[in-house]
Amino acid sequence: MSGEAHRHDSSEPTAAPRGELSLRTLAMPADTNQSGDIFGGWLLSQMDIGGGIFAGKTVRLRTVTVAIEAMTFRKPVFVGDVVSVYTDTVRVGRTSITVRVEAWVTRSSESQMILVTDGTFTYVAIDERGAPTPIIPDGLTA
Ligand SMILES: CC(C)(COP(=O)(O)OP(=O)(O)OC[C@H]1O[C@@H](n2cnc3c(N)ncnc32)[C@H](O)[C@@H]1OP(=O)(O)O)[C@@H](O)C(=O)NCCC(=O)NCCS
Repeated sequence: MSGEAHRHDSSEPTAAPRGELSLRTLAMPADTNQSGDIFGGWLLSQMDIGGGIFAGKTVRLRTVTVAIEAMTFRKPVFVGDVVSVYTDTVRVGRTSITVRVEAWVTRSSESQMILVTDGTFTYVAIDERGAPTPIIPDGLTA
């Protein structure tokens, strides 16, 4: 399978979640910073976990995060928000997969989901020694 077949513009915000739901969680008081707002690092972590679940499922190999690019924190996240992480393939290379990751929240005061953060995460398939290993095209049919 060609990586080009999966390529699309990953920078533009979307009106509805792009891709599949890979993780859903609740923003808790323990996830706040010193000001009482949800810590950006916590959200980044959830997105990395969601992207990693998607990457592993797609390539059917163990993967590690090699790069996080183009992160945009568009809206704040509040305690009590339900955070949903959506993922979509941007590109598949020889040993890497690049994933568009979006975090959307549902909060009781709003009727619609809100896009809060999006970014581009790249994961590398690794072997048992932790070295990059080729992605098998047949593994991309998840
Ligand atoms: C990921 C890792 C195994 C890659 O090893 P490496 O020797 O640098 O691998 P290579 O140079 O052969 O690159 C492997 C793939 O990663 C891609 N890659 C490497 N650096 C990249 C970067 N900064 N951005 C995007 N892709 C990158 C390469 O393009 C290549 O993709 P391709 O095979 O699809 O063309 C190694 O860097 C590593 O172990 N990093 C730590 C990962 C980790 O612990 N992540 C969790 C952080 S706590």
